[in-house]
Amino acid sequence: MKILLLNGSIHRNGTTHAALEEVAQTLQQEGIETEIFQIGAGAIRDCMDCGKCSEQGCIFTDDAVNEFTAKAKEADGFIFGTPVYYAHPSGRIQSFLDRAFFSQGAVFRYKPGAAVAVARRGGTTASLDVLNKYFGISQMPTVGSSYWNMVHGMDGEEAHLDIEGMQTMRNLAHNMAWLLKCIEAGKQQGIPLPASERGNRMNFIH
Ligand SMILES: Cc1cc2nc3c(=O)[nH]c(=O)nc-3n(C[C@H](O)[C@H](O)[C@H](O)COP(=O)(O)O)c2cc1C
Repeated sequence: MKILLLNGSIHRNGTTHAALEEVAQTLQQEGIETEIFQIGAGAIRDCMDCGKCSEQGCIFTDDAVNEFTAKAKEADGFIFGTPVYYAHPSGRIQSFLDRAFFSQGAVFRYKPGAAVAVARRGGTTASLDVLNKYFGISQMPTVGSSYWNMVHGMDGEEAHLDIEGMQTMRNLAHNMAWLLKCIEAGKQQGIPLPASERGNRMNFIH
């Protein structure tokens, strides 16, 4: 079982990474494989709504979105971590996830997900609200913790001073591990994926 964690910050070793690393280490103690995927510092295109998403994914190949969705296909669950910028998730993680989900939404379906937001002070719940929307529309169980999934700090060093935030990260990891093991046990028992209707799609203008 593997969890893919996405660091939506330009900082490879900043606050978001410190929070995700706490989750990853606890998951590993639970016997779950982990990989932290760095969104990096390069330019990330926004979705152009070109409608040309293919079997291989998004038409744009000059950033890591398709590499991420290829890894997502093999993963059993996800943690999306973001710094808060003006009370919303980083622009780069939003552009990245818009294209990942629009082009390859099926690779996420039925797999559990959790969002983590980090900030100096405010805007975490608004940011979590945005990231949780990807799970809600993708039939993904959403995993919580003993507090909302947030850590406070200006940088990676300060993040470790937020001992309740770090506790929240560890409890998130325990909850995620528990759910993964329950899903795996369900598979062993022959419990099928949920039935899912498709086809009814209405635009409100009609
Ligand atoms: C453009 C920008 C906007 C920010 N807006 C907020 C904000 O609204 N609230 C807040 O508490 N911190 C804000 N911050 C601070 C970051 O969220 C904080 O430093 C965070 O720890 C950075 O995480 P990172 O090290 O993973 O990049 C902002 C930082 C930047 C660069």
